[in-house]
Amino acid sequence: MIKIGRSVHLKYKWLPRRPVTDIVLAALTFAHVLSAMGWLGGALLTTFAVGPNLGKLTQTASLEFNARVLPNMVRFTRAAAVLTLLFGLALLGYMYGLDNSYFSSTAGMVVSVGIILAIVAAAVGFSMVIPSFLKIGKLAAGALEGGQQGSPQDMMAAAKRARTGSMIVLFILLITLAAMVTAGVS
Ligand code: HEM
Repeated sequence: MIKIGRSVHLKYKWLPRRPVTDIVLAALTFAHVLSAMGWLGGALLTTFAVGPNLGKLTQTASLEFNARVLPNMVRFTRAAAVLTLLFGLALLGYMYGLDNSYFSSTAGMVVSVGIILAIVAAAVGFSMVIPSFLKIGKLAAGALEGGQQGSPQDMMAAAKRARTGSMIVLFILLITLAAMVTAGVS
């Protein structure tokens, strides 16, 4: 059997170059794209739907949301990000193994740009966005319990860091997505 990109061609004379479905390839691509949707979806939802509308809630409702819902959303997005990277690497390994020539093809070069960007997005997300959102959750939980952990200024600073970081991550993720899709059709 010869693997050529996405399809597998049988090498036997009585089945000349008949493409068959590669189940593992399909499963890895499905898992990679699904987790990428979770990562990008979580980032889009938090940045554009949840963040700008929190001000419409009463202070207590907003504190409750930040203390009880936001940390779960952040954990979901974090898990999706980790799975995207893991399935992406597994896909890369499965498709091209030790064949370095892939990286000198157009698809390989575009995927390499996407991988570097994905790593930068993950670094910003894990060092800046996730800790800031989790801090907001903790401060809100403290305020709800009456034990006021940290000042409103701490909350504002964490919210600003989370918002700035989210915009950076989203921007990088959208370029990464464009690179991955370009590689897929190259
Ligand atoms: C370490 C990180 C990543 C690695 C190693 C990786 C690897 C890959 C590989 C090898 C492919 C197949 C490309 C081809 O068909 O030639 C792919 C496809 C894809 N990747 Fe990634 N990827 C990563 C991160 C991401 C991220 C962050 C996103 C989303 C924002 C993403 C979205 C996609 C999509 C949508 C496809 C399908 C493209 C298509 O077939 O049209 N990937 N990825």
